[in-house]
Amino acid sequence: MSPIEVGILGATGAVGQQFIALLAAHPWFKVTWLGASQRSEGKAYREATAWRLPAALPDDVAKRQVDAATPGRAPKLVFSGLDSSVAGEIEGAFAQAGHIVVSNARNYRMDADVPLLVPEVNADHLALLKTQSAARGWPGLIVTNPNCATVVLAMALAPLRPFGLKKVMITTLQAISGAGYPGVASWDILANVIPYIGGGEEEKIQTETNKILGTLRGGAVVPHPMAVSATTTRVPVHNGHTASISIACEQTPDADALIHAWRSFKGRPQEMALPSAPARPIVYLTEQNRPQPALDADRDGGMTVTVGRLRPCQVLDVKFVALGHNTIRGAAGAAVLNAELMREEGLL
Ligand SMILES: NC(=O)c1ccc[n+]([C@@H]2O[C@H](COP(=O)([O-])OP(=O)(O)OC[C@H]3O[C@@H](n4cnc5c(N)ncnc54)[C@H](OP(=O)(O)O)[C@@H]3O)[C@@H](O)[C@H]2O)c1
Repeated sequence: MSPIEVGILGATGAVGQQFIALLAAHPWFKVTWLGASQRSEGKAYREATAWRLPAALPDDVAKRQVDAATPGRAPKLVFSGLDSSVAGEIEGAFAQAGHIVVSNARNYRMDADVPLLVPEVNADHLALLKTQSAARGWPGLIVTNPNCATVVLAMALAPLRPFGLKKVMITTLQAISGAGYPGVASWDILANVIPYIGGGEEEKIQTETNKILGTLRGGAVVPHPMAVSATTTRVPVHNGHTASISIACEQTPDADALIHAWRSFKGRPQEMALPSAPARPIVYLTEQNRPQPALDADRDGGMTVTVGRLRPCQVLDVKFVALGHNTIRGAAGAAVLNAELMREEGLL
């Protein structure tokens, strides 16, 4: 099979770099186009970006000239790691010009006709694309992945849906890479915790999770009825968003049943053996001091969510800790998995 050419919008950012690293040896996709702002346009990629990843920057990408973020020269499939201040307009223009945009940005996530995908959890939501094509008349498409903290919560909760989720309280401890590069000033974040993340972070967790766990009915998603309350904090960690989560359910769940639900959870990516699919989307650890970002964020290429510390909650029913890699499972890796699913579903 000849590789499918892909472009990256926002290629110079933190998420854009992860796309380049993840696609460097991808069996299906090859990066042939890079787009970013006027600051980068016309420069060789290695001059335009401050490469921050331990993986080597591939030579062919390093030399490639960064283009303007306008449709025309890009291949049909485009991943987007654009800043949300510009993603709405630019991604819309690409879809209107016939591109398939697989986006990380928040702009279209909550639109009723746009899939907000976690392939293990709601692969059936791709059916919204029929509604999208009919409603917008675009020759292209937009598919999104969740906010980087939302995906950790949504994956940890998905196997627990049979217990009748009613209430969820979440407090996050989010890595600085979640703010892009250079992100938070070192003066503010070193030896510190910042109890606020801008850009509507808490609201995203409180709405996106319900859409992801929602049910597809009559061509639309009916959001899950559980109530979600979120507090988000920024902590001096490079990569990996940790979350302390308490839940209340219709039936008070038994600890063994919960752990079994997490450990046996699998979805369409595992059935289809997609290239970026982790063998086990959720790993439950029994050690009292896990999960930790330094030890667990990179599990299975950063695509696994690690859960631990399950115990009774004196206010709701049970509480636990969950962790996921924010720029891989929470961003670029999630989008690549979405595109792999779309290819197998014949949507590319
Ligand atoms: N970091 C995470 O963990 C994470 C997780 C999930 C989702 N996201 C979302 O992913 C997106 C990117 O995040 P990031 O952390 O990678 O941000 P970032 O490091 O600040 O990168 C932003 C990218 O957008 C480009 N850009 C900015 N203004 C532009 C314009 N006017 N026209 C064209 N391109 C423009 C930048 O290009 P220049 O370099 O040329 O300025 C850069 O490539 C955001 O929407 C973010 O909310 C991030």
